[in-house]
Amino acid sequence: MIRHFLNLSDAGPDAIAAMLADALDRKNARAGWPKGKVDADAPLAGRVLAMIFEKNSTRTRVSFDMAIRQLGGTSIVMDAGSMQLGRGESIADTARVLSGYVDAIMIRTDDHAKVVEMAQYATVPVINGLTDASHPCQIMADMLTIIDSGRSLPGLKVAWLGDGNNVLASIAEAAGLMHFDVVAACPQGFQPSEEDLALGKGRARCVASPHEAVEGADVIVTDTWISMGQAHAETKLDAMMPYQVTPALMASARPDAVFLHCLPAHRGEEVTADVIDGPQSLIWAEAENRLHAQKSILRWCFGQIG
Ligand code: CP
Ligand code: NVA
Repeated sequence: MIRHFLNLSDAGPDAIAAMLADALDRKNARAGWPKGKVDADAPLAGRVLAMIFEKNSTRTRVSFDMAIRQLGGTSIVMDAGSMQLGRGESIADTARVLSGYVDAIMIRTDDHAKVVEMAQYATVPVINGLTDASHPCQIMADMLTIIDSGRSLPGLKVAWLGDGNNVLASIAEAAGLMHFDVVAACPQGFQPSEEDLALGKGRARCVASPHEAVEGADVIVTDTWISMGQAHAETKLDAMMPYQVTPALMASARPDAVFLHCLPAHRGEEVTADVIDGPQSLIWAEAENRLHAQKSILRWCFGQIG
């Protein structure tokens, strides 16, 4: 069976736990090494990862590229606009052609149905590098960051502030799989769907009050109010303003609470500069952990973990 990583449930809780442990071990084993040096065991030597971007990316692009290199493999990075995909060649045909050249495909796109179709026709593993519906690779890095900060996932309270978007959907899914709770505070009209909350298997809920979400929370998370592909709407920004992560809101969380943001960030919108650049923020570790998490995702796809 080909292992596709389209959502966190494709791996399941035991494999996710093993992937996070592997990511941490590998991160620690190469501390201080030059970034381009290959891990001692080069577990993916000879493997090639193709990446297709239909949307912009800094972290996902560079962290996957470095991840496959550190595992001993190589990558090909393509913007969909410069591929025949951008002129209407089908996802199915692209999947079949690329499967003859490379060993795995990562795709960032809009409609989640496209990654599902890619996986249906590819004969190599397909990884979801973000869709309008979910961002599972990001949440692997977020969970790694939480664990690396000395916390364990079960029983944690995670508060989400702002837009009920793709990143929240993957956090809800992670909550259900890894047994932590997520309380999202989102304004009317921008709440997560019932379907997304159900991914949390009873551990994800949405409230109107930001203070209720944050009260006693261990982790505070937010994201851009306008995701890629969405129109910039002043009415949305106005509705979001009470959900901005501020020092006053952080004060309602546990004193040792940490702040996460997948980036890119908009200081003064979803979060104030003093919070995102303050002592409780783990955003730089979180961004670096994209690299370490991707390595374990790749190893899982190739049957080396779980
Ligand atoms: N967090 C994240 O996915 O960043 P990029 O859009 O830069 O890849
Ligand atoms: N919700 C954001 C995440 C960016 C990494 C978006 O989809 O644009």
